[in-house]
Amino acid sequence: MSGIVGYLGSRPAVPILVQGLERLEYQGCDSAGIAVIEDNRLVVIKRAGKLAALKSSLNGRMDNARLGIGHTRWATHGRPSDVNAHPHLDCSGNIAVVHNGIIENYQELRHKLINAGHRFASETDTEVVAHLLEHYYEGDLVQAVLKTLPVLRGSYALAVTSSYHPNELVGVGQHSSLIIGLAEGETYLASSIPAFLSYTRDTYILDDGEIASIKPEGVTVYAADGTVKEKEIFHVNWDFEAAEKGGYEHFMLKEIHEQPRALRATLSGRLQKDQVRLESVDLTPAEAAALEKIVIIACGTARHAGMVGKYLIEKYLRLPVEDDVASEFRYRNPILNERTLGLVISQSGETADTLAGLREAQKSGVEILAVTNVLDSTVARLAKHLLYTWAGPEIAIASTKAYVTQAACMYLLALYLAEKRGVAAPWKAEMARGLRALPDYVEETLKLEPRVSDLAGKLAPHEHAFFIGRGLDYAVSLEGALKLKETSYIHAEAFAAGELKHGPIALINEGTPVIALATQTELLEKMISNIKEVRARGAWVLALTQEGNGAVAQEADAVLYLPPVPSWLAPVVTVLPLQLLAYYTAVARGCDVDKPRNLAKSVTVE
Ligand code: G6P
Repeated sequence: MSGIVGYLGSRPAVPILVQGLERLEYQGCDSAGIAVIEDNRLVVIKRAGKLAALKSSLNGRMDNARLGIGHTRWATHGRPSDVNAHPHLDCSGNIAVVHNGIIENYQELRHKLINAGHRFASETDTEVVAHLLEHYYEGDLVQAVLKTLPVLRGSYALAVTSSYHPNELVGVGQHSSLIIGLAEGETYLASSIPAFLSYTRDTYILDDGEIASIKPEGVTVYAADGTVKEKEIFHVNWDFEAAEKGGYEHFMLKEIHEQPRALRATLSGRLQKDQVRLESVDLTPAEAAALEKIVIIACGTARHAGMVGKYLIEKYLRLPVEDDVASEFRYRNPILNERTLGLVISQSGETADTLAGLREAQKSGVEILAVTNVLDSTVARLAKHLLYTWAGPEIAIASTKAYVTQAACMYLLALYLAEKRGVAAPWKAEMARGLRALPDYVEETLKLEPRVSDLAGKLAPHEHAFFIGRGLDYAVSLEGALKLKETSYIHAEAFAAGELKHGPIALINEGTPVIALATQTELLEKMISNIKEVRARGAWVLALTQEGNGAVAQEADAVLYLPPVPSWLAPVVTVLPLQLLAYYTAVARGCDVDKPRNLAKSVTVE
């Protein structure tokens, strides 16, 4: 996630901006920059690389500036480089903008602006904002912002400064946070509170669509229609560490709660009516039609997301998909040719096993389509087609928002391939509709948190737990069991529910916790039988099913009702209570939730 800072006051702005950026660097930074007003001129300095690169370029310069904005970038549109680093300028060099989030319709806007004579320097979506402000500017910066916002689609936080108004900063938050820090004679602005916490604890948190005009005489907040709003001061009681976690106790919990927003980013601009537009995937209809199979190459959580893809693509496209852990794929001498598509899934884009599998596949002429969260990662550089998850940086080792965004990409990909292969089917419109509603379903599902936290208390004393499911529920069971073992160190295993009787059922005895996933309508009866089988042997069963499936609830000891999602969309929703269950069980057992023993976020050795 990129970071935004801003300052207006009577002290030198540059050191304050840099300190703010330092506080945000942990969220990911591949380039950084600042824009300040010095002697009524707008001065911009930006550098690719870590913040240290920017710091050494600043080197005591611009010490007259008392106002400015700054940014740490975590690339989404355009690779990390000096030019793509923020701030971005209009043609005249008088207006500077920093931005978090995604402007969905930037390509269309860029095209129009270029036709109107604007010159673009970067590949970013952000730069359109600077040019739009130039276009609408008629002597009032807030008015220019008010006219620009309705033109933008997407989620964004913006900070704007201009040499036309050497004593004003403007900030905007739209589905992306922007917070104003209020102190005596100075005002701060940031995308998250730690940036200014050492200076003030009094804040205005901007609501969606609000615009803040920051001037020496005070802060005015406007609604999107230009009317002035009365804001209440939010006093921050968190210490610095809690502030980094947005007030949550752990990054894992923060990231679990970030999932609706992350999914909005993943889907943004990619679903247009029933059509899917994937900006860096470019299979021709002939190439797509020629595909004979897909091989998934991934590890850990990413592989579990891949399994969701396998079920979807095989079911709806009737195209065979092999799903493998990368470390096995690599050495099993797989049967591959130019008619195979390699689907590589990797949050970090740096996992050694995954990279080795990717290279192995390429040797046989396999084209790679990579689903990754990190622009410019090794996987991204080696792949021919790219589907970025846009989850934002994930800090907790146990992956949560990366999984749901990878899974969402599987649906996008199924729709994309169906389109390219000329599959005409009613499920496409239904899938597109379901995907659009997905962030809301996820938000709704998070309301189960208090109930899940109670159930975690029941699970915490146990040393073994089993997850069962069929079809897509089996794929999610694997992820649920992985989350629980990673974070709580409970021995958790997932089994295909029908396989239980072939051995694992021997492990069930009095009180053994079994988490039964029952969201697949056509398999419900079979799941109910499996639940009965384990309960007959003394298991304590927690069932997860959609509202209305009373028959499942009757058979279980406890039930978590999910919103009424269709079976095919259930994985992205079902996984949330499982993440929360792992989290709260780990907390109850006193585990180091964000940094479980023996694990690494990115495993770069084979
Ligand atoms: C490690 C992490 C897992 C992750 C896996 C694959 O094992 O601990 O959380 O799922 O690597 O990582 P990747 O970055 O390739 O998705």
